[in-house]
Amino acid sequence: MDIIRSVDTMHALALGWRARGKKVGFVPTMGYLHRGHTTLIELMRQRCEILIVSIYVNPLQFAPTEDLGRYPRDPEGDAKKCEAAGCDILFMPENLYPPDFRTTVNVSQITARWEGAARPEHFQGVATVVCRLFGLVQPTAAMFGEKDYQQFAVLKSMAHDLAMGIEIVPGPLVRDHDGLALSSRNVYLSGEERRRALSLHRALFAMRESRAPTATERIAEGRAILDCDGLDYLAVVHPDTLDPVEQIDRPLRAIATARYGKTRLLDNVAIGP
Ligand code: PAF
Repeated sequence: MDIIRSVDTMHALALGWRARGKKVGFVPTMGYLHRGHTTLIELMRQRCEILIVSIYVNPLQFAPTEDLGRYPRDPEGDAKKCEAAGCDILFMPENLYPPDFRTTVNVSQITARWEGAARPEHFQGVATVVCRLFGLVQPTAAMFGEKDYQQFAVLKSMAHDLAMGIEIVPGPLVRDHDGLALSSRNVYLSGEERRRALSLHRALFAMRESRAPTATERIAEGRAILDCDGLDYLAVVHPDTLDPVEQIDRPLRAIATARYGKTRLLDNVAIGP
């Protein structure tokens, strides 16, 4: 595995692979890799000839009040995990954006609710960095975990709308032994917060198993199980538009974000017949 820190070197290599018609798989991350990430890397390994993983903690997707400064980092550990998972190129740019960078990418509608409402500029930051990374890496396919379900839907929509010619592949949400969705931010939880956070996936799985025909009823069932310090949302949504849906009569998604102390945890499950 090679580690590349220069955007120019990365771009030159990528253009060469593209000219030679190589299948380039890409897994963008912000590092502090866990089994959720390495699962995506291993799955993408099976679909491509050249596998690139990026690690970049993107300031554009953090509000000034958020955890950019204390976002967990472990570059050496991450490099070992990437190599073991079959990565060819680990792209860790020092300066991803040029000094004269003035473009933003905004995906409308689908970003208006849920995470977009709670974190108003978040998805613009995510779409902008992923667009720049796609330009540098020139992948034929990129994988994003369904753990951040709205992010996956936003990026799929962006790639489609801008005719990027990049296949956006969903990666599975990976859970810890006790059911908690794996997230780099789980490290912030105290023992007590983590114990209570298990109610998040239990609420979502109860909503999935319920036979109630409407979202209102299933959300009430989920809320009765959920034990948290604050609930940002618990909803049943269309899997592509993320619009709320009332009748549970087709494949949908139940999504939730709950707060435990200062930590926001996201989770979701497929729901429907
Ligand atoms: O999901 C993440 O880790 C980030 O939002 C991403 C897609 C790497 C963009 O910074």
